[in-house]
Formats: sequence, structure tokens, C-alpha cells
Amino acid sequence: MAIFNVDLADINEVYRPYLSDTHRYQLFFGGSSSGKSCFLATRAVLDALSGRNVLVVRKVQRTLHASCWNEVLKALRRLKAQRLFRVSRSEMTLTVERTGAQILFAGLDDVEKIKSITPMNGALTDIWIEEATECSRDDFKQLDKRLRGPSPFKKRVTLSFNPTWRDHWIFREFFGGWAEEGRADAGGEPGVRVTPGRSYCDRRVTILRTTYRDNRFLTEDDRQALEEENSGYYHTVYTLGRWGTRGDAVFTDWGSADLKAEPPPEGLRVFYGLDFGFGHDPCACVRCRLDKRNRRIYVTDTFCETGLVVWQLAERLRAFAGRAKVTCDSADPRCIAELRALGVLAVPAKKGPDSLVHGIQWLQGYRIVVDKGCEEMLRELSAYSWKEGSPPQPRPGDDHLIDALRYALESEQRPRRATLRKKSEVIGR
Ligand SMILES: Nc1ncnc2c1ncn2[C@@H]1O[C@H](COP(=O)(O)OP(=O)(O)OP(=O)(O)O)[C@@H](O)[C@H]1O
Ligand SMILES: [Mg+2]
Repeated sequence: MAIFNVDLADINEVYRPYLSDTHRYQLFFGGSSSGKSCFLATRAVLDALSGRNVLVVRKVQRTLHASCWNEVLKALRRLKAQRLFRVSRSEMTLTVERTGAQILFAGLDDVEKIKSITPMNGALTDIWIEEATECSRDDFKQLDKRLRGPSPFKKRVTLSFNPTWRDHWIFREFFGGWAEEGRADAGGEPGVRVTPGRSYCDRRVTILRTTYRDNRFLTEDDRQALEEENSGYYHTVYTLGRWGTRGDAVFTDWGSADLKAEPPPEGLRVFYGLDFGFGHDPCACVRCRLDKRNRRIYVTDTFCETGLVVWQLAERLRAFAGRAKVTCDSADPRCIAELRALGVLAVPAKKGPDSLVHGIQWLQGYRIVVDKGCEEMLRELSAYSWKEGSPPQPRPGDDHLIDALRYALESEQRPRRATLRKKSEVIGR
């Protein structure tokens, strides 16, 4: 780095101590837009200028170009270091003209490339795994082994990611000594330094948690989008940058009340949702009211019946919902059309690839108050639980009224902004 002057003002303060950190394993995790990728791209450029050979990887090759590659090119421009590098877009390599040190890029799905990748001069010294939660422990172990060969530099593997659930292998592997905010400093062992909620390091590992608040380059709009994110899991992970806790129960904030004796506040909008069924599975319908200000959903009435043919269902719905809109499971467009012909304002729910988990996460941002007469709904809420494994999925089966509730309020689940939607792919895949 002696050959290159860095203006530290270009680097968020929280990351500066990590410019020359030599821990073998370095984890940069936290909320969305906290500056992790920008910092690591900048560091990769500076590392190459100091003679290190850096391999940048993501799980999927096709995502590399739009993310890490562009990020590193931007860093090059920010540092005004373009003239010091030879850039090959076709090979996806950046080579320091003077020394031959390189920044290389590969997707883990390009097995041949990963196996054969070697820098022009010397050994690979650094691997940066971007969005590391996409990778398996086995991927990580294989990459770790690629840092062989003599080199005057200390070898490093850097992982950057947004946290997911605490049962992820990264948490199990590296976060044994990590302390959340409010917990006592867990240090004490030689070489261990802990700042609860912020950082951890021992002889082998260093961890830094950052959030959008640490990124002074963020626009006010981006900041606001993150602050407004209110669904439980997304807020935890992308705004606060914390690991999500996967209790077995999907919904923990709900309860029953006598809503006939003590009705919800006046003036709340009413919503209807319907999940189709016939034989074994019932047709399930929900009437609810949404209190955004106080973050409550009131489930005031439901019905759940098997064996209803369409005209019978239409009759039930006309009595239940009148001329109000009923948002239905979109898997059965013919039923929806028939209901409409029979005088029910049935509309299909817009289902996206991750609408189930996103819908659940949105509901988790509210307390669900269920009329004590809706026993089926109360039973479903208490039984609804997560399956083992990743990505998160609820156990299917006993979820007809919960699905109907998701559909009912689907129009209220505002689409996430681009940065958050990108993340949902990781979660929802
Ligand atoms: N050093 C910097 N100089 C200029 N802009 C920066 C810098 N660091 C961050 N930014 C701005 O902040 C935005 C978010 O930063 P970045 O993409 O690095 O966050 P991130 O922590 O990787 O977020 P995510 O978790 O969503 O991937 C960048 O797109 C860029 O506009
Ligand atoms: Mg990033």
C-alpha cells in the first residue's frame, strides 16, 4: 500500500481498522446498505495494490457481474486507481500493471473455474465470499483449502452477508463467542475482545456487525426505506442486522378476545380472504380489520367447511361478505370466475415466488387478536410452526384460515424496495 495514498474520508469510519486486519477468518455482517460490499471492494483493490492476490466469489456465477465485479470497478474509480490496473472484462480479472497481482472472480457453480483458478504471480492470499449465507459449509471448507502455497502475506478468508437464522452454519461455526447488545462482555480469554452487539475477535476470527447507521454515504431515501421496514423478520435482519431467531412457532404475538363484547376501534377497514378446499381440506374464509397505527389485526369472524360446491360457497360468501371484495387463493381461477358469475366480488391474490414467507413476515409485524368464537383460527395459530432447515418454510397442512388471512391483507403488504427484494431471494429461495 506504500505506493498508493488512500483518502480515509472515502471509507466509512467503522471499517477503517479492518483495512489491514490479518485474522484468518473475517466476517462482515449486518443490515442492508451498511457499506459492507463497498468497503470490501475497496479493500480488495488496496490489497491487490499491496501485492495480494484476491479471489472474489459468490454462489452463483451469473450474479457476480452485476454485484462484486461492478462494485470493485466502482471502488477502482473512487480510489482513482484505474490507470494502475489492466481490466479484462471477458476473463473477469483485474491485474496490477506493475506487479501482476490480481483480483479474480468466480461463481461456486463454475466448478472447473474454481478448481483451476490461480493468480498470475504467487499464491492466492485472499478469498472474499460475498453473500456468504448462500454458500454451504462445504463450499466454505473447499475454498479455505484453496489458500495454499507459500506467500509472504497472511492468508485470509472474508465473508460478507446479511444474517439469516441462528441455525445457519455460519452462526454455529463462528458466533460461539459473540455477545448481543445488553449482554455482558464475554471476553476474558487471552486474545479475545468482545464489544457486545458490535464486534468480536479471537486469535482465529474477527467479526464486525454494521447497520445502515454506519454508512454515511447513504441517501436519505435509502435510510427511510430501511427505517420504515416493519415486518418482524425483515426489520430484525435488514434494518437491525441481527440474526433471526427461529422459534418453532411461526406466530408468537396473538391472542383471543371477546370482540363481540369489546369490538375493535371504529373506522377500521374490513378485509376478506378465502382459501379454497373441498374434500379433505376445507374452504376457509376470514373477515378481519386492520389497525395499522396500533399494529393490530382483528379477526372478527371465520368459516371453515368441507364439501361446499361453488354455488353453496357463493351463497355462504354473499351472506358473509356481501358485496365486499374477497381476495382468494389464485391457484383456482375457474372457481374465482364462477364465484364472480354468482355475485361474489372474488379477486385472485397476487402470489410472488416468496409470497408465503413474505406474507408471514408481514403478519408477524402485527399482534393478531382473534374473536374467541373463532376456535379453528386460534387452533391454527397455535399449531403453525416452522419446518427444520433452510430456507425457512412453515409446515404445511393446518393453515387454511392463516392462508385466508394472508390473502385478505395481501393488498396491504407494500412491495419491498429493490434492496430488500433482492434479499428476499436469498431467504425465500
Ligand atoms: N465508501 C463509500 N463510498 C461511497 N459510497 C458508499 C461507500 N460505502 C457505501 N456507499 C453507498 O452505500 C450504498 C450501500 O452500501 P453497500 O452496498 O456496500 O452496503 P451493504 O452493506 O453491502 O448492503 P447489503 O447488505 O444490502 O448488500 C452503496 O450502494 C453506495 O451508494
Ligand atoms: Mg452488499
